[in-house]
Amino acid sequence: MSSLKRAGDVTITIEGTNRSATLPLLAGTLGPPAVDIRKLYQELGVFTFDPGYGETASCESKITYIDGDAGVLLYRGYPIEQLAEKSDFVEVCYLLMYGELPTAEQLAHFRRGVTYHTMVHEQLRRFFDGFRRDAHPMAVMCGVVGALAAFYHDNLDINDPRQREIAAYRLIAKVPTIAAWAYKYSLGQPFIYPRNDLSYAANFLHMLNAVPAEEYKVSPTLEKAMDLILILHADHEQNASTSTVRLAGSTGANPFACIAAGIAALWGPAHGGANEAVLKMLSDIGHPKNIPAFINEVKDKNSHTKLMGFGHRVYKNFDPRAKIMKESCHAVLKELGVTHEPLLELAMELERIALTDEYFISRKLYPNVDFYSGIILKAMGIPTSMFTVIFAVARTIGWISQWKELIEDPSQRIGRPRQVYTGPPRRDYVPIEARG
Ligand code: ACO
Repeated sequence: MSSLKRAGDVTITIEGTNRSATLPLLAGTLGPPAVDIRKLYQELGVFTFDPGYGETASCESKITYIDGDAGVLLYRGYPIEQLAEKSDFVEVCYLLMYGELPTAEQLAHFRRGVTYHTMVHEQLRRFFDGFRRDAHPMAVMCGVVGALAAFYHDNLDINDPRQREIAAYRLIAKVPTIAAWAYKYSLGQPFIYPRNDLSYAANFLHMLNAVPAEEYKVSPTLEKAMDLILILHADHEQNASTSTVRLAGSTGANPFACIAAGIAALWGPAHGGANEAVLKMLSDIGHPKNIPAFINEVKDKNSHTKLMGFGHRVYKNFDPRAKIMKESCHAVLKELGVTHEPLLELAMELERIALTDEYFISRKLYPNVDFYSGIILKAMGIPTSMFTVIFAVARTIGWISQWKELIEDPSQRIGRPRQVYTGPPRRDYVPIEARG
């Protein structure tokens, strides 16, 4: 049921002609209104041009709100700072999926449901053997998460609300198991099965770090840090991977295939791959004395070098998640007894220089969440190749909530952008012997 309100009209006139159209202006609860252009082509015979969709609202959504200029992020109306301080990841999953904070009873039921879906079909284990040991774990994630559709045939009917809910539970619960196994496979270590007596974050850390030969106790500090990372990355409205999930979902594809598509989109260094890229950049810089030369390289347009972990499509002020992550980063390093972490010191110096440099100030480039998350994950002993995988574990709830919202939206149609064609006009085929 649409909650969009008509806030006025916009009249568009094509200059030099008498053609004009009056289009509705639609307003949501927060944020700028949007011009409803659904009848634009019909009325004026023109399309809109918006590469990267920076000015286009592709859907109506009640899940997440971002005010990029004010540095605000809300999940279902609740500020990320409050959720990070007072909630935990499973409660945030409930909130994102159902729209309201749960009662104690609803939360216990949900937590139990997620916990008891963490095991994967035994035959799915064999998939891992098909990958090379040195495969990137994101490649393994794309393949194995997509393969879930071949194992859970009983929840592929996207038109059945109960089947959609079961698929959501399965994805939230099983993605950490698959992620941990992708890591274990790369190490050549045995897979560690989920444990129902541990929290979501602790179970994930246990599957990542335990070995059968000895007991592994999850540090409460690391458990809290992982839970925080999961909360901060849980959803971020219509970003590239979420839009990919929605686009795939708009075709009627099953939820496992849609989430696999989201994982593929997340892999890129401009998106989820950024925290891995931040660590690589820091180790390439090597020493604070090399920062000025690196900054000059970033400013040189011909170099194509970017300051990874800086800049955001939407936040043109501090990324609120980066603020929380920065504080957690210091707390984690202190608790872990890391008093001298050269990469962190390098990152802090890089941040200091970049925040006072005219190039970054004038372009409103601030550190994003990935600038700090990579450093925390490194301090936790997690290898860089797993950073984006952890992001995917966290974002699964955002993807599945957005997918459910899409399927339940009666106005949803197959996603099908248009284009402005600039290739050759119609021409006739030339036989090969006649080509010059
Ligand atoms: N380093 C140097 N210059 C940058 C950076 C950067 N990290 N980001 C943007 N710019 C420059 C652009 O070159 C451009 O300069 P110009 O106006 O002289 O041409 C200007 O700032 C505006 O940038 P856009 O490219 O228009 O910004 P856009 O919104 O398209 O890109 C993006 C956002 C992709 C995140 C970009 O800032 C980037 O690549 N950052 C580094 C990668 C990164 O950290 N990604 C993580 C995103 S957060 C996430 O996924 C959780």
